[in-house]
Amino acid sequence: MKRTLNVGLLGCGTVGSGVAERLLQAHDRDVAAFSLRGVLVRDVRKTRRPQAVMAHVTTDAMDVIRDSRTDVIVECMGGLEPAYDLVKEAIACGKHVVSANKALIATHGPELIAFAGDRGVELLFDAAVGGAIPALSVLRSALAGEEILEISGILNGTTNYILVAMESGCEFGAALESARAHGYAELDPANDLNGTDTAQKLSLLAHAAFERWLPWQSIARTGIEAIDRRQVRDARAGGGALRLVATLKGNRTRLEAAVEPVVVPLADPMAAATGAQNVVRVIGRGCGTLTLIGPGAGREQTASAIVGDLVAVSRL
Ligand code: NAP
Ligand code: HSE
Repeated sequence: MKRTLNVGLLGCGTVGSGVAERLLQAHDRDVAAFSLRGVLVRDVRKTRRPQAVMAHVTTDAMDVIRDSRTDVIVECMGGLEPAYDLVKEAIACGKHVVSANKALIATHGPELIAFAGDRGVELLFDAAVGGAIPALSVLRSALAGEEILEISGILNGTTNYILVAMESGCEFGAALESARAHGYAELDPANDLNGTDTAQKLSLLAHAAFERWLPWQSIARTGIEAIDRRQVRDARAGGGALRLVATLKGNRTRLEAAVEPVVVPLADPMAAATGAQNVVRVIGRGCGTLTLIGPGAGREQTASAIVGDLVAVSRL
């Protein structure tokens, strides 16, 4: 007999609607049973998919969070406020929390994780890095015994989508609009373009790999705002591809991190990342080089990672 996990959802945009759809469409093969309860949104009149989610929407956050039957709150709102206050309230109410919000975790992670620990609940955020790629959980579990030497890769789907589109002759502005239409970009896409989103994800990877919080604000970052089609074309003509690359090297006492556009050789898996794909390359002393590639953003892709965290909660 499967245990039913009662889920409250904060946010029902690109990611939240994917989670709602997944929770409302149970499959026999599911390893856990879910019941979707309240769904917090800003505008209850907005048409949403799946249609069935309309019966659950509310603008009253406390209705969702304080519902005594709810076991876990999924935060898919984005940004720092009110997400921070609502996640804290959920933890204070003894609910587990699953979040896709790297800005929130990279900024308030140490405090929120400690608070969750004090309250005896889980705060899981696998969806916050790499979309469907299980980068954080691989570092925390399969590679837990590994001495990690370096992590590098492409951690932002929007900028990769733009750079790849520009390789096909698309203008920067048109490529950005297309990425937004696909739901890949942050509410303020400046955070994608200027490397902030990538730095926040790198900070979470540093925590998973080195058990150390590296403030994302301290990470040197150069974005792609100033990149033009000529630079993208020149990189190709020179036998490479321009990518926004994150790099993290060091050990528990000293870490060096950077985010910058780099021309990578065409033989590098980063050059082969198309659309919103991400690449996470881990180099460990024992395991050598491991490369994870997959969808780094998107509705169903990110919902997949969130449901994975929900299954983990259902197994507690
Ligand atoms: P989104 O499409 O903008 O959705 C945000 C949702 O939150 C909307 O439903 C919005 O309500 C609701 N919301 C926002 N502020 C609110 C407030 N003050 N009160 C009530 N509801 C509020 O964002 P998203 O793309 O799904 O991203 C959500 C989070 O997932 C972000 O942290 C993002 O970084 C992360 N993420 C996104 C992706 C992706 O591919 N998009 C991938 C991985 C992680 P309304 O619908 O009524 O406006
Ligand atoms: N805006 C983010 C990106 C969403 O483009 O990668 C996924 O974290």
